[in-house]
Amino acid sequence: MAEVSLLIHDLEAAVSPKGTGPLRGRSLGELEVQAPASVAISGERIAGVGLPKEVLRGFPPGTGYETLDGRGKVALPGLVDCHAHAAFLGDRATEFELRSRKANYEELHASGGGILSTVSATRAGSEEELRSAVEMHLRWMLEHGTTTAEAKSGYGLDRETELKSLRAIRGAAQTHPVDVHATFLGAHTVPPEFSGATEYVEFVIQEVLPEAVPLAEAADVFLERGSFEVPEARAYLEECAGHGLALRLHSDQFSERGAIPLAIKLDARSVDHLENTGEEGARLLARSDVAAVLLPACGLFLDLPLPPARLLVEEGGIVALATDLNPGSSFCESLPLVMNLGCTRLGLSPAEALSACTANAAHVLGLTDVGRLAPGYRADVLVLDAPDWRHLAYHLGGDRFAAVIKAGQPIRLVS
Ligand code: NIG
Ligand code: FE
Repeated sequence: MAEVSLLIHDLEAAVSPKGTGPLRGRSLGELEVQAPASVAISGERIAGVGLPKEVLRGFPPGTGYETLDGRGKVALPGLVDCHAHAAFLGDRATEFELRSRKANYEELHASGGGILSTVSATRAGSEEELRSAVEMHLRWMLEHGTTTAEAKSGYGLDRETELKSLRAIRGAAQTHPVDVHATFLGAHTVPPEFSGATEYVEFVIQEVLPEAVPLAEAADVFLERGSFEVPEARAYLEECAGHGLALRLHSDQFSERGAIPLAIKLDARSVDHLENTGEEGARLLARSDVAAVLLPACGLFLDLPLPPARLLVEEGGIVALATDLNPGSSFCESLPLVMNLGCTRLGLSPAEALSACTANAAHVLGLTDVGRLAPGYRADVLVLDAPDWRHLAYHLGGDRFAAVIKAGQPIRLVS
């Protein structure tokens, strides 16, 4: 029998998405709610979740274990942010102000600002500075309950800075409590040194990808007017898949241009954004094994149309939510805020929003042992200082954690 190292006892409830693997369609809202509950942790894994008496009987504590009083509190799985651009330097506060006076995001991009202004700032910094920035962004995320995160490159767009970004992500991952999964976003947009998308993609494939592969788990592309169209995206993604990287696509953010059929054909992990996906595209995606990652903080930040969240769920899709943390279109690191927007703007229930930020987000990152509170899973646990788990989504911008536990270690105890 496993030795208990941490016992969270007498919680009002322990809440987790049901089952294993991704939750499709309406099963997104199926939760396992144990009330009251205790959670026994052994080292880095969850040993048991159940009624307090049963947990004590099943896992008689050894000597020297820690305890956490769960009275008046609830336990939830650590959140998983499956879409985050954590590797950037500088900010876009001036652009934010211009947008507040109605400057258009796409027009700023077309005139050499937007993504390209962050590219200039990121190229100008050292690897050490970039690593510190990644660490800072991960810390912000952890403070909002994220225990596993994606970190994309994509603000280098030259050989040196893309590789520098991936190394900075890897360096930050080695020391930071948040588990980090690196994605190579070499095809974010076309940098000014190149005359066109085809020429740039050819360069990325030849000169950057081979060295990026050992530093990344997935590859991503921005398939959008002003960045890459289907032919270039296909060439890039096929080459990335050939090197063993999982595939992600930024698509249908401003316009629909064939990303969903391409993603399905290439067996991509996810298509992300979908603010301008029509009914036909949504149905096609929902019936496939490609996940739909919705980014409502970005939609709010840029005042975009709402993605077809309800249709994707009703048609049986795999729906996840993420922050899209980046300096231009979603300067937001809070998944609880994203869950709130999922409920208030996208028509998801709190239960659906929770699974979308845990079990389904883990699936998007290719992970099978995070995103649930169940025996054998990583002991990544949020102890919410509220009597009802729905406060996580309900309390707008006010995450009240009594503890965030990462791999069995309490990271932050405020009570
Ligand atoms: O996911 N859409 C493309 N990329 C990012 C935004 C990048 C930026 O504005 O810096 C996004 O929204
Ligand atoms: Fe993004």
